[in-house]
Amino acid sequence: MSNDPLVQAAVDARLRAYAPYSRFQVGAAVEATDGRIFAGCNVENAAYPEGTCAEAGAIAAMVAQGGRHIRRVVVCGGGDAACTPCGGCRQKIREFASPGTSVTMVSAGGAVLQVRTLADLLPDSFGPDSLT
Ligand code: THU
Repeated sequence: MSNDPLVQAAVDARLRAYAPYSRFQVGAAVEATDGRIFAGCNVENAAYPEGTCAEAGAIAAMVAQGGRHIRRVVVCGGGDAACTPCGGCRQKIREFASPGTSVTMVSAGGAVLQVRTLADLLPDSFGPDSLT
């Protein structure tokens, strides 16, 4: 297990995921630019489209506590392959992050599988600055 508290937060959150339908548990953690860490997990629903992703939960927790800028993101999935953020979550991260913000994918045990920037995952993105 990594010593990185952001990785630990994502790993811990994944263990609390509510994913009885897909059985695919995901945890995510964001580090705000003030150093605070916020975590989330996927929360599925019997009405399938109402389920929410781990990243969305982490971002909502940050915003509810006054955070507005993401410095780093960690996503923790359970399979052998890296669990990269879905398209919708890439855009949600984009709202509060910079192109160079790192997005690290880790295993269920916290081993780093892949490191990307947000710009790698979402090139030529549309963001708040696009509206000015
Ligand atoms: N999931 C996430 O929580 N984050 C992602 O970026 C990929 C997918 C969840 C949604 C659903 O509960 C389950 O994984 C299977 O798609």
